[in-house]
Amino acid sequence: MFSTAFLDLPALQGASGTVTLPGSKSISNRVLLLSALCQGTTVVHDLLDSDDTRVMLAALRQLGCGVDVQGTTVTITGLGGQLKHHDAIEFFMGNAGTAMRPLTAALAVLGGDFTLKGVPRMHERPIGDLVDALRLLGCSIDYLGNDGFPPLHIGKPSLKLDAPIQVRGDVSSQFLTALLMALPLAAKDRNIVIEVVGELISKPYIDITLNLLARYGIVVKRYGWQRFTIPQGCSYQSPGSIHVEADASSASYFIGLGAIASGNGIRIQGVGADSIQGDIRFMDAATQMGAQITSGPNWLEINRGAWPLKGIELDCNHIPDAAMTLAVMALYADGPTTLRNIASWRVKETDRIVAMATECRKLGATVEEGQDWLRIHPLPQGQWKAASIHTYDDHRVAMCFSLAAFNADQVPVRIEDPKCVAKTFPDYFEALFSVAHASTQDIPVICIDGPTASGKGTLASRVAQALGYCYLDSGALYRVTAYAALQAGLTLEASDEVRISDLARTLPVRFEGDSVWLGRDDVSDAIRTEQAGMNASKVSVLPSVRISLVALQHSFQRLPGLLADGRDMGTVIFPHAPLKVFLTASAAQRAERRHKQLISKGISTTLDSLRADLEARDARDSSRSVAPLKPAQDALQLDNSSLSIDASVAQVLDWWKAKQPF
Ligand code: DC
Repeated sequence: MFSTAFLDLPALQGASGTVTLPGSKSISNRVLLLSALCQGTTVVHDLLDSDDTRVMLAALRQLGCGVDVQGTTVTITGLGGQLKHHDAIEFFMGNAGTAMRPLTAALAVLGGDFTLKGVPRMHERPIGDLVDALRLLGCSIDYLGNDGFPPLHIGKPSLKLDAPIQVRGDVSSQFLTALLMALPLAAKDRNIVIEVVGELISKPYIDITLNLLARYGIVVKRYGWQRFTIPQGCSYQSPGSIHVEADASSASYFIGLGAIASGNGIRIQGVGADSIQGDIRFMDAATQMGAQITSGPNWLEINRGAWPLKGIELDCNHIPDAAMTLAVMALYADGPTTLRNIASWRVKETDRIVAMATECRKLGATVEEGQDWLRIHPLPQGQWKAASIHTYDDHRVAMCFSLAAFNADQVPVRIEDPKCVAKTFPDYFEALFSVAHASTQDIPVICIDGPTASGKGTLASRVAQALGYCYLDSGALYRVTAYAALQAGLTLEASDEVRISDLARTLPVRFEGDSVWLGRDDVSDAIRTEQAGMNASKVSVLPSVRISLVALQHSFQRLPGLLADGRDMGTVIFPHAPLKVFLTASAAQRAERRHKQLISKGISTTLDSLRADLEARDARDSSRSVAPLKPAQDALQLDNSSLSIDASVAQVLDWWKAKQPF
């Protein structure tokens, strides 16, 4: 996951390949709650690991359910409709509507002493219609803040179930879902009838609920979309094990990607055209706009068809979440696209009509908006602007605007707070980068070099972290090469140059976090000794070894960008890098830093001898004929003798930001 303050997407050119999508949020949280209400144990496969499901799992644990998480397989031991604890419990619901609504209903019917709270935005998301319905049926619920909104307190109910229970259907279908999942708890000795008042929105989500209830032994009778009967005597039966489909709304970004990006097509694994999720109908809207889609069990394949895309006019009531993706696709169309019947966007994670309009305008688009509709005009070549997209703590805003990076003007797109995708798709950007490609010249590289012990490694990896960029420690490549050569019984002298360079050309080296692997061996410690540094220095003066490592170093230039640390990064390997930094620090300072480092490792040395060593090495490094230590002509010099690491990182980031068009 990218936890950076922002993520800059370079201009993207095309996309091909396969993505495997995480489990659906809506299905995951419904399955968790239903498994919790059952008697016995349910093994849930392919569960989404996200903020929303974590909120639900935490709540279930608080209620006394057995919860055993093994990767994406979670085993739930249910309550059997009976609470194990009767103490006061406070639940924190974050911004997870799919946990808040159904838990409110289930807890209100079960009864107890419960407080449900969330983040400030959750306290602005309406819940009054659900509370009204629950109160009518005898539940005890109080508002702890503003009427109609969380936080809530739930007490013990005295249930009155004879009259039909009425619930409004035109604000959020989650209210009806919540009642449908909770009321079987109270249907032991009577039928329970729920009536929807007003037009029911987001009907496909109710279909998911009914479908899953049936898997758990509750067959609800439906009369149109107005009246639902939960049959007397029904009870939750564990299906034993259940698979969660991949999220059809998440699929929309890759369907959109396949429709927009040139390439050999995108294959989506985990969900097919026969999905029980309503958002799968996004396929039809994308097809209307020009995408070519084929499908089989659990997979979809998308290719670019009509180009530019075709502007459409669509009632989006049946695909409220996925329809946001259409708004960004609309920028690539031949005429305006009008999305109608999207009033529910106003009460989602943020007011999505305002958010989509505002951010599309930042890109340069003309957008019209009404109470429940949005019209987006296409953005012709020459009018795209590099924009910093605000994401409003809304995962879908972040994900759908990533598609703007395919723009014809090849301007980059900045996504603010990219970690907000964690709500449903923590590795969204990793998945995007695994299929999207950019021109090499568009993938930014920052080079950092400097004399030994100047702190360039620390600085480079910290800057890489702050930007979410890949990191190339080129010194480590020379260290690994020397290590591998010695392992192979070679000397590090010129006489073995050809064999060392052959070895370097196919070096099976991998960087994983802070670890460096050579084939199956973790060589992180072995290559970081003083001796390994000396050995690296020896092989690094062999010209054909340097040439052999060029392709490997170039392969690190991957999306979304690269921080390259080492000797000739800015001069030979990435001469066009837009930012090159040359660190300087006095020999005295560097000796002191190295001294501290060695002492902390339990290695005793003296400051004077270290300083003498450093000065000798500087002289050798700057005067050697092969790849001498010298700043690139266009490098910015940073003397960090009296700067903290944080201050040096901030300086490099400032230089970098000043070069960006945002
Ligand atoms: O930065 P370091 O101490 O890990 O580097 C080990 C040796 O490799 C050092 O002698 C410099 C050399 N080197 C090089 O010649 N070219 C690079 N790009 C990186 C390191």
